[in-house]
Amino acid sequence: MALPPAFLDELRVRTPLPALIGRKTRLLRNGRNWKGCCPFHNEKTPSFYVYEDHFHCFGCAAHGDAISFLMRAEGASFTEAVERLAGEAGLTVPKATPQQAAREARARDLHGVLAAAAAAFERRLRLPEGRVGLDYLRRRGLSEESIGRFGLGWSGEGRGALAADLKAEGIEPAQLVAAGLMKYRDPDDPAAGTVDLFYGRVMFPIRDRRGRAISFGGRILGDGQPKYLNGPETELFRKRQALYGLDAAREGCFRGAACLVVEGYMDVIALHQAGFTGAVAPLGTALTAEQLELVWRLSPEPVLCFDGDAAGQRAAVRAVELALPLISTERSLRIALLSGGEDPDTLIAKGGAAAFQAVLDAARPLSAILYDLLTAGRPAATPEQRAALRRRLEEATSAIPDKALAGEYRRALLDRFFAGRGGRPQAAPRLARPPIDEAHVPRERARNLIAILLRHPAALPDVEECLADLELPDGAPTALRAALLAWLAAAPRLDSADLARHLESTGLHDAMTWALHPAGLARSAAPEALPVEVLDGWWHFFGLLRGEAALQRDRAEAERQLIETNDPVAQQRLIRLSEAIVELREGGRGAGADASGTQQHQ
Ligand code: UTP
Ligand code: MN
Repeated sequence: MALPPAFLDELRVRTPLPALIGRKTRLLRNGRNWKGCCPFHNEKTPSFYVYEDHFHCFGCAAHGDAISFLMRAEGASFTEAVERLAGEAGLTVPKATPQQAAREARARDLHGVLAAAAAAFERRLRLPEGRVGLDYLRRRGLSEESIGRFGLGWSGEGRGALAADLKAEGIEPAQLVAAGLMKYRDPDDPAAGTVDLFYGRVMFPIRDRRGRAISFGGRILGDGQPKYLNGPETELFRKRQALYGLDAAREGCFRGAACLVVEGYMDVIALHQAGFTGAVAPLGTALTAEQLELVWRLSPEPVLCFDGDAAGQRAAVRAVELALPLISTERSLRIALLSGGEDPDTLIAKGGAAAFQAVLDAARPLSAILYDLLTAGRPAATPEQRAALRRRLEEATSAIPDKALAGEYRRALLDRFFAGRGGRPQAAPRLARPPIDEAHVPRERARNLIAILLRHPAALPDVEECLADLELPDGAPTALRAALLAWLAAAPRLDSADLARHLESTGLHDAMTWALHPAGLARSAAPEALPVEVLDGWWHFFGLLRGEAALQRDRAEAERQLIETNDPVAQQRLIRLSEAIVELREGGRGAGADASGTQQHQ
């Protein structure tokens, strides 16, 4: 539902952030603001700052406003968060249109109908007629607690039993049709009456993320067909956007359980019962993008579990193909393949939680399993087959939107592809191929970094601090740096001809010739480069030499300095470091990129 921005602004203004966040973590005054221990990662010393309108954690980079705080802290959806905050602030969430209001009123009614039906099914499970169902569930090893936790029930034997149960609550058969629990005998003639959809089945309520029933799955006792019957699509139930067990898994994951995606209802319940409380399952169809998005809200790296048989492998391939266009450095997945015709439910029944834990421990990251999945059952023997395989590998990686990440995947896959030439593919994927000459790449990057400053010494004050702390290859790079910094401290003006004369006089002629050798120098080191190109290029090479992890630390440090000093230099540094990180992630398409020192990628 699109809300008017003015309403959201009003909501933010009326929500005192320290009070809201103070419920989750103890906040102390810090000048005009507040600080405390971050509720999103474990820490002993506070690095979580709360300002008037936003929060920021300098430890884990969590960042946002009141709405995103609720979404993150409690797994609330955007709409839920807005509704709760509006309730507390005494605001009414505006309804976009009368149609929308009417639809929401109907949905509210439907929730009531489904809740009443769920209660009726649960009641029936405890009546003599439900005994067969209860015995069935117990035979399958479900505890009383699990049966209660998942609200399992008994459908009754049909012939309008449910409608009779609910009539007392003022619920009409037409509402049961809308809720997906009955259907019209004749869809063209509602007057001809309704019939039950579910009878003689154990009932599994399907719930939304807040735990409200939105539909049901019903399992037949024993071997009949269909084994499971699911409710039809309704206003509340969109199969592709729901996950079985989502409400329970949300709680489980919030408490630290691993997020697992399995195939069946019984798998989810057996897993929760065995302590794997982050398990969910799609509803009898292949995993959808919407479902993956839901799962990623629970965990950045969920584990998808598939049966080890051919169907399971195919499902795994489909899931991987679905996921590739959606992954980023922040969200990926792992894949666990079961073996021997087991599913999680049967595996736990035979081997207990430990047996399933072993499967989880063997789960492989997406990057590692992709090659095996793409080649499975298709040994590429002929040139044609190998060309086709190579195309599949390229296609698969080109689906990854993050350029740097796609590059990493492509390299890893092609390494295995070439490793497999003429022989069998290697059993385990190797990591990215080391550069041919390990020392060459950092030396070339350092050369560019220095050359830029030799040509454009005016940039020195901007980069001085970072240059001084950077780890550089020994020899000419470190000698030139020392000379540059010494010269900067005393130079009356930052002129490149002056600088060259000074370096000549201090015996660095050869080092300078090495640094300025034109082959492989970036455009940003050319004398005619514009100041903005110069700085972009310099930070580009700085990022490559420093590495992302260290850049992140630098940025955190710069942020801390900025808070303490409010110094514009610190702010500049913060901006530059953030840009360097982006630049690094995007794989160097910036101004310095024509000789970006990425030779090892070829
Ligand atoms: P499975 O056939 O693997 O069943 O279907 P299961 O989950 O192991 O069931 P049990 O252990 O025999 O009780 C996996 C999922 O596919 C959907 C259901 O969601 C089921 O949980 N399914 C299966 C259907 O929707 N209809 C069917 O007829 C069968
Ligand atoms: Mn099963």
